[in-house]
Amino acid sequence: MTTSLNRFCPRSGEPVSDDSLTRHRGRTVGFCNPGCRDDFDNGGPRAVEDRRYFDVLIRESTGLLPGGRAGKALEAVLPTLNSERLRLRAPRETDVEALFAVFSDPKVTRYWSHPPWTDRAQATELIDHICQHALNGQLFQWAIAEGSNDRLIGTVTLFFVNRSHRRCEVGFALRSDRWGEGLANEALSRAMRYGQDKLDLRRFEADVDPDNSASLGLLKRLGFEEEGRARARWRVGDGVQDSILLGRVVSD
Ligand SMILES: CC(C)(COP(=O)(O)OP(=O)(O)OC[C@H]1O[C@@H](n2cnc3c(N)ncnc32)[C@H](O)[C@@H]1OP(=O)(O)O)[C@@H](O)C(=O)NCCC(=O)NCCS
Repeated sequence: MTTSLNRFCPRSGEPVSDDSLTRHRGRTVGFCNPGCRDDFDNGGPRAVEDRRYFDVLIRESTGLLPGGRAGKALEAVLPTLNSERLRLRAPRETDVEALFAVFSDPKVTRYWSHPPWTDRAQATELIDHICQHALNGQLFQWAIAEGSNDRLIGTVTLFFVNRSHRRCEVGFALRSDRWGEGLANEALSRAMRYGQDKLDLRRFEADVDPDNSASLGLLKRLGFEEEGRARARWRVGDGVQDSILLGRVVSD
């Protein structure tokens, strides 16, 4: 089965064929035959119209306006949250460069679940992923932007949100030249307050590399307690890595 964004070829209206797929703005898109696909990839005369067609589909499925601001649908599920120095907001396509700067830095990904990014398309794909899953109500991954200039300097996330059991997991990453100013603390506190007040969550969980002292320190300052050690939880390079599991419980 094809995983293409569009089911029908923008040129012929025929069904998309599995041997005629390509990428556009981090999404898989397709044509009815490899000839149309190659023409699109090579920027042929009809590629402009094709791109416009795919952009409309992206906008419809994510609420994200290509190259512009997050659409209303996205703002409704991932609302902008302000704090003293920061603005947590939906990511935009214009954040690609700033997001790439965060996750292409080996210092940031040292204890992260993937190696440093090498390609800006990875940033586009993450933005797409965030928008899609936010609209499904499964993932709340805000861009951490500076309040003064709206520039993205990291992300903060509530994920595996389980409304029945009132819990979620938390994640956070900040551009390395902004560590040590208490900004992650400010961003995570604001995101968890949203989780408590608007999503009615009562338990926040984290899974941290035992050597990630910055992250463990941050979580403990925010009231997380260690609840155990899970052995060999992550494959990292050729080896495996344990996790410290932490939880913070909010009473009603
Ligand atoms: C983990 C991470 C987000 C922490 O970012 P951070 O903004 O430095 O963390 P905090 O908000 O807790 O800031 C704490 C530091 O700021 C200092 N600070 C300065 N001004 C402060 C203020 N106004 N308020 C609070 N702390 C302040 C604190 O003294 C502390 O310094 P220390 O670590 O030397 O003790 C960051 O190291 C990171 O992005 N790491 C890579 C990604 C990662 O591993 N994520 C976690 C995966 S589980």
